[in-house]
Amino acid sequence: MFASTGAKGDRPGTKDSVAQIIETGVFCVNIATGDLRDAINATSAPLPAGTSEFAAAGIEAADCTTIDCPRVAGAAASLECRMTQIVPLAGQANFAVFGVVTGIHMRDDCVVDGRFDPRAAGGWIARLGYKDYAAVTDLFEMDRPE
Ligand SMILES: Cc1cc2nc3c(=O)[nH]c(=O)nc-3n(C[C@H](O)[C@H](O)[C@H](O)COP(=O)(O)O)c2cc1C
Repeated sequence: MFASTGAKGDRPGTKDSVAQIIETGVFCVNIATGDLRDAINATSAPLPAGTSEFAAAGIEAADCTTIDCPRVAGAAASLECRMTQIVPLAGQANFAVFGVVTGIHMRDDCVVDGRFDPRAAGGWIARLGYKDYAAVTDLFEMDRPE
């Protein structure tokens, strides 16, 4: 799932992502990693509906396997999703979008000893407040108590 907040003039009540998911019923989640940080940031520009963010951000696209939707060819991982529910949330233009994963892609160099390593590819990144980001650079394991 992801949440979308805000609207743009050419997509009444929401932004392109939610509008396109309503139209097509599918979406692809591409994991954001440090090695693609500039391209990821470039896709947040409020481009007009119908303008390719792949082209604008210089991102190579590949076809998804299980859904009719492009994915980021160089992403560390991508989740192909069929939308199951869009829940309007309180406030203006807020939506939670849920989907079931129908296909998974993982970059070979991000799989270490048979497990996906979120430190690979510059580390998964998360958007924080202000202009701040965090990257996964360290991992630790803990056993749950009996
Ligand atoms: C790393 C990153 C994470 C973002 N996450 C969200 C998010 O979870 N929800 C949201 O509504 N916008 C998010 N944004 C902002 C959108 O990218 C921006 O509003 C964009 O114009 C929306 O594009 P769209 O019209 O194609 O949906 C994020 C931006 C960046 C750079």
